[in-house]
Amino acid sequence: MASLSSLSSTLPTTTSRQPSFPKSACSSPRFKVSCNASADETPKLILQNVDRRNMLLGLGGLYGAANLTNIGSALAYPITAPDDISSCVAADTGVQDPNNAVRGVACCPPASASTPKPYVLPQFTDLRIRPAAQRLTPDYVAKYKAAIAAMKALPDDHPHSWKQQGKIHCAYCNGAYSQEMNGRPDLKLQVHNSSLFFPFHRWYLYFYERILGKLIDDPTFALPYWNWDNPTGMMLPAMFEENEAGATNPRSNPIFDPYRNVAHLPPAILDLQFRGTESGLNCVDQISTNLSSMYGQMVTSATSTEAFFGSDPVPDVRSTPGTIESGSHTAVHIWVGNPRMPNREDLGNFYSAGYDPVFYVHHANVDRLWKIWKDLNPFANKDPITERLVERIVRVLR
Ligand code: C2O
Repeated sequence: MASLSSLSSTLPTTTSRQPSFPKSACSSPRFKVSCNASADETPKLILQNVDRRNMLLGLGGLYGAANLTNIGSALAYPITAPDDISSCVAADTGVQDPNNAVRGVACCPPASASTPKPYVLPQFTDLRIRPAAQRLTPDYVAKYKAAIAAMKALPDDHPHSWKQQGKIHCAYCNGAYSQEMNGRPDLKLQVHNSSLFFPFHRWYLYFYERILGKLIDDPTFALPYWNWDNPTGMMLPAMFEENEAGATNPRSNPIFDPYRNVAHLPPAILDLQFRGTESGLNCVDQISTNLSSMYGQMVTSATSTEAFFGSDPVPDVRSTPGTIESGSHTAVHIWVGNPRMPNREDLGNFYSAGYDPVFYVHHANVDRLWKIWKDLNPFANKDPITERLVERIVRVLR
């Protein structure tokens, strides 16, 4: 998969920012759901008599909320970073129409007067508990918005600015760096479609979250996660599109982004298999299909480390993505990105995804699923490095 956008096919035709999902209530013998929304009401899914086993072994709610000090079962392995960031070039790999790339393909980091130093993890940081986006209190939403507003207020060339943070994704995913550190300057560095996917995005969120906390002077600040594996979270969290007090459109909302698919704003129900064509399913069937997809990606198809994480990147061999990366993760990107933009900006293309605050809240859920997969079967579900170490020990003992 060269880019997210290469997976899309047909384009929805809605043009106005209006909810596309009608007020409806629906039920089946297994399931009773109200998909309820009106212009003056926050859209919500109302679940009644839902068989909790349908919620994927308790994947919903606060179970598995990730935090940064209690990561005993969720360690990442190190990623080789580019040796020389001054060799960074324009990032246009996988950008179909670079001349109309509204976010720009100049994604290299700002020059630094000092020599970069390896980062050392702090011995202790305050506990951060990531909350589910659909359960945030108004105070938490206000805090999150204030943090993003502060990030957007930094000058563009500040390393912590919204623009520089957005560029990181573009640089590591659209070919700004080569693999010269591995002796292969002819190959581009790409952090998707392999086992690099989970750890790369974990460190990306780690620093993003710390920056946001610092900007609002709250060392406990944690990113919300978009809980799209849970029926109550299967729509874009309303906070991203709401009007600020007294405003008549969402443009003054710091977490609003103008490049989203207007056909998929709340209360549209997310399609976790979306590849550009609307499923046409009613809300109950869509939710049920989504739960089945999640079960497949977390359980029935994720029966080995390689299946869940993807294969390790090896030069000259095409690596394969894991179940979550290629499945629900990619579907959410394509579902949120605007199909009318030349490169499906923002979420529908790697180069632009980091400019929409939804990206980080989406990936906070991806990160959480990593932890949950391991907890589902702690004896069998291992990180790639743990698995390789075990293999080596077994070989030595033989
Ligand atoms: Cu780096 Cu969701 O992609």
